[in-house]
Amino acid sequence: MPKIVFTCPDGSQRLVEARAGSSIMEAGTRSGVPGIVAECGGALACATCHVYVAERFRNAVGEVGEFEDEMLDDAAAERTEASRLSCQIAMSDALDGVEVTVAPAQ
Ligand code: FES
Repeated sequence: MPKIVFTCPDGSQRLVEARAGSSIMEAGTRSGVPGIVAECGGALACATCHVYVAERFRNAVGEVGEFEDEMLDDAAAERTEASRLSCQIAMSDALDGVEVTVAPAQ
């Protein structure tokens, strides 16, 4: 199974396995990664699954979607070029080892 490296708001790191096709948010919440709130359960309606994707994985995770883009504008933490909503990134073997930092506020 592809793996995700989460850096949590306290600086600790978690290595989490994800089923192919599940989102980074789903893998993170299932494993109790701190800081991923995911209030809407992945319905693209809350922006409380905000993460920053490490630069070397940005092409692999794809483009920000139109509605995701609007939601990120309302995210609690600063939006940067690395910002994504983790419910919108589906895991695959191509993303094995992807590194994301959980936003400090959701
Ligand atoms: S979980 Fe609500 S927008 Fe991602």
